[in-house]
Amino acid sequence: MLIFAAMSAEEKVSLKNIASHCKEYGFIYQSSEIYDGLSAAYDYGPNGVLLKNNIKDYWWRAMVQMHDNIVGIDASIFMHPTTWKASGHVDVFNDPLIDNKDSKKRYRADVLIEDQIAKIQGKINKETVKAAKRFGESFDEDQFLTTNPRVLKYREQIKTIEDRMRSAMDSGNLEEVRQLIVDLEIADPVSGSRNWTDVRQFNLMFSTELGSVTEGASTIYLRPETAQGIFVNYLNVQKTSRMKPPFGIAQIGKAFRNEIIARQFIFRMREFEQMEMQFFVQPGSEMEWYEHWKEKRMNWHKGLGLGEDRYRFHDHLNLAHYANAACDIEFNFPMGFKELEGIHSRTDFDLSSHEEYSGKKLQYFDQQENLSYVPYVVETSIGLDRMFLAILSAAYTEEKLEDGSERSVLQIPPVLAPNKVSVLPLVNKDGLPEVAEKIVGELKFDFDLQYDVKDAIGRRYRRQDAIGTPYCVTIDHQTLEDETVTIRERDSMNQERIKIQSISNKLQEKVDLKHLLKSV
Ligand code: GAP
Repeated sequence: MLIFAAMSAEEKVSLKNIASHCKEYGFIYQSSEIYDGLSAAYDYGPNGVLLKNNIKDYWWRAMVQMHDNIVGIDASIFMHPTTWKASGHVDVFNDPLIDNKDSKKRYRADVLIEDQIAKIQGKINKETVKAAKRFGESFDEDQFLTTNPRVLKYREQIKTIEDRMRSAMDSGNLEEVRQLIVDLEIADPVSGSRNWTDVRQFNLMFSTELGSVTEGASTIYLRPETAQGIFVNYLNVQKTSRMKPPFGIAQIGKAFRNEIIARQFIFRMREFEQMEMQFFVQPGSEMEWYEHWKEKRMNWHKGLGLGEDRYRFHDHLNLAHYANAACDIEFNFPMGFKELEGIHSRTDFDLSSHEEYSGKKLQYFDQQENLSYVPYVVETSIGLDRMFLAILSAAYTEEKLEDGSERSVLQIPPVLAPNKVSVLPLVNKDGLPEVAEKIVGELKFDFDLQYDVKDAIGRRYRRQDAIGTPYCVTIDHQTLEDETVTIRERDSMNQERIKIQSISNKLQEKVDLKHLLKSV
């Protein structure tokens, strides 16, 4: 069957579409749904956990297996409380919070201001599109952006707001942050009210008690990033794995942040998973490695084929307390370009600070150069759940078919698809299920797969399209005669007849991670 029309770029899929598709097809459910759910907490279902594991596998193998100078660890979520004093999280891991007195809604003050900047930027974009239409082929965008009086006025407005916000945030002047909101006449997006409270700092770490009260409980935190588990193990790993800078330590694990506004489905959650790698280098070489990892990580993303124009770099102007250079890899989600991964040159901030607080030397002695130093660190940090959302945002497609019917298809890169193949006897009789079960018995050692015998074959294809299964193998009466099956490809819906013995090779060509790892 031919695809008559797929969703165009303008008819962008919404987060709502993705969330309801995820629920219907066993990818993601609201946490504790039978109790009406817990806000911004989600559970991964049977297909979701397979996709998530495949993303982890792709990351882990690309980072650890493909680099003989990167090793992995799995540190505990609970860490000694001093860790968070040394890392700066106790003192500066805060977001500025503001409440609207009428709607009783709570906002991040800096996000309200950034949204205002985005509105002005939107006006610039509109002017540019209009001018491009007016001037046609002779349009020079750079020249327009640097000379058009209206654009220059908007740019000046943005700069003034950014300068004021940066100086207020840097100096911790929360009154000035509030004043900026008042001066810009920012209204509550829900109620339209401008009746704001003062701005207060809110620490994002979750705390809990370790041990029972009678034993003398102490306050500890759920880790807000996995990176610190790597820093405190730097010396253990370096010694036991006999590593010499430049070398890296990778980790995948849960992180927790009491986000003021957790929203946009799994984009911003209070419990999420990170895939982080800290790369320890000789001081002075960090910028070279920073550029190296920027390129490597972008290649890792682009290798998936979700569309080159869905990614862009965004350099940080406002650097975190630990960084001397930082950027994000942004992805074009349904709500626009947003941070997917951070690449940070963290200097020796963390190791030096842990040295100071622990009293333990965290240095590397380079025998050849007779030199002892605290390594500098370049970090790559990606949210696993955000990566999951990026894949679904690009993969979710609604198509109108030639016969007038419609299908929802998840065009997940085959290497990451939850199931690689579905094995379908055409009818549930005549010995076809027995042949199908035999095929399943062989394929299941190499591939995650589904066996499905219920409903008409067309409906079964639709179900597999909706969960992103790249191939369907159908066993029919001809199979009994000549040991051939039809294999149907998800995206093109093309079908061909192949021998049962060649199914495995055919699948392997498309779904083997090896090819992808070689290409990135
Ligand atoms: N160790 C550095 C660090 O944690 P970050 O930019 O705060 O840096 C890194 O976080 C990545 O973790 C982000 O790019 C994002 O993908 C993910 N992330 C951060 N906060 C998140 C949240 N509340 N929910 C989901 N993912 C989050």
